[in-house]
Amino acid sequence: MSPAPDHASMPGRFHPGPVASHAGLLEPVAGGKAVAAGTGMGGHTRRMRIRRRNPCLVEFEDVLVPDLSALLRGRARLDSSISASLLCPVAGRKLPLSADEVGVIASLSADRWHPVADVAESRALPIATIHSMVDRQLVCSDGDDPAATRLREAEARLESIGWHPHAAVYHALSGWQGVSGEEGSRCHAAIAQVERLQRHASSHGRLPSHFHRRDDALDRVRLPPEPFDDDFARVLRNRRTTRHFRKGVPLPLAHFTRLLHGTFGAMGTETLAPGMVAIRRTSPSGGGLHPIEAYPLVMDVEGLQPGFYHYEPATHMLALLESIPSNPARELAATLLIGQTYFAQASALVFHVARIDRHHWKYRRHPKAYKAVLLDSGHLSQTFHLLAAERALGAFYTAAINDVDVSRRLHLDPLREAVIAANGVGVIDHRQNELHLNPEPYAPRPDALAC
Ligand SMILES: Cc1cc2nc3c(=O)[nH]c(=O)nc-3n(C[C@H](O)[C@H](O)[C@H](O)COP(=O)(O)O)c2cc1C
Repeated sequence: MSPAPDHASMPGRFHPGPVASHAGLLEPVAGGKAVAAGTGMGGHTRRMRIRRRNPCLVEFEDVLVPDLSALLRGRARLDSSISASLLCPVAGRKLPLSADEVGVIASLSADRWHPVADVAESRALPIATIHSMVDRQLVCSDGDDPAATRLREAEARLESIGWHPHAAVYHALSGWQGVSGEEGSRCHAAIAQVERLQRHASSHGRLPSHFHRRDDALDRVRLPPEPFDDDFARVLRNRRTTRHFRKGVPLPLAHFTRLLHGTFGAMGTETLAPGMVAIRRTSPSGGGLHPIEAYPLVMDVEGLQPGFYHYEPATHMLALLESIPSNPARELAATLLIGQTYFAQASALVFHVARIDRHHWKYRRHPKAYKAVLLDSGHLSQTFHLLAAERALGAFYTAAINDVDVSRRLHLDPLREAVIAANGVGVIDHRQNELHLNPEPYAPRPDALAC
């Protein structure tokens, strides 16, 4: 068996690489274009009032810093210091806080305005310190300058759409922009992969065993053998992740259409109450809401101009959003999939974009709501995979995407529309197998209890 690519067993690969950067969930969008969140509000007055950010999640971390006293004695040593930051869903990043600033924030209400002069006096701090906090969006102000207004509006929209504060922060801070992994260029030879995994094990210990067994089971019941070789079972068994695609062989339109309709199409609708319509797809969805939209990036599908589309299940039409010639579309695909060049050889990608406002309309500030949206995407992906397997096409699913860049390219409103993951489909290149997981067949056996 040639080993699968490292991500098959190393979830750590989803951690941002050195070039990662983030952008805010709520970064305001004007005229279809993202607007950089401004900082310098200027024009501060003593009459200005401030309040705590909402949500206001503060994180404390130990950071290693050079030990200066040891350095003066000619020795290089590291010391640790505690750093605090506000986890900001608007900017999509951590905003550093000093100890004085933590104290100021802890003294503020999120519902009431506090005059800047009073805050400065009660904390024994210069007014300039509080003004600087306003500039760095560590607090909200009642100023009427554009940056202050945008921040207040963004927080109000966050609240009205129904984002759970923890989910909003997690979603915004886990967004990727311009991340470029090394998957496309690293050596995929079996020996190199084994060495990488062994190095990983030497740092993090052994991988927990592949089959799990409860030692506290009261009894074990032997189940009747289950034949699993009918047509449906064969489709399920043939599902796999494909990373080798035939270049210059376009995907027949009928196949692409079947995948889109079979995965994202509406199989039925039901009016739950006046104006409230649930749809049924071939996959389940929390609350029957189906918040996930399909945005294909077509590179080589028969009869379709390459470019970015939105699939409209209502009419079974593709709405062309941007025409992009095939080669640039492939380059764009590789960039948006953080340099996974093997996926860019597929015929089309399909980005999953969740309409958070539809979903959270029902599940307002619900601690499970964001998780349910991610699960919806996983279900849709499996359906997409199975439809591809049934037609002997290659498919994949990836969460390692520059979601912030996708959002900007599609002119999405990041508050209402969350880019989650991407599927892809193409014609399999059976001459190559290096990048695939190639497991030996397995059937349950009683003596496996020992493993
Ligand atoms: C949530 C999720 C994210 C994934 N992300 C990637 C990815 O970024 N790159 C990739 O090559 N494969 C990705 N995969 C595919 C897995 O690596 C693949 O499913 C696994 O190796 C098992 O292989 P199989 O799908 O052929 O059974 C992802 C799969 C899932 C479910």
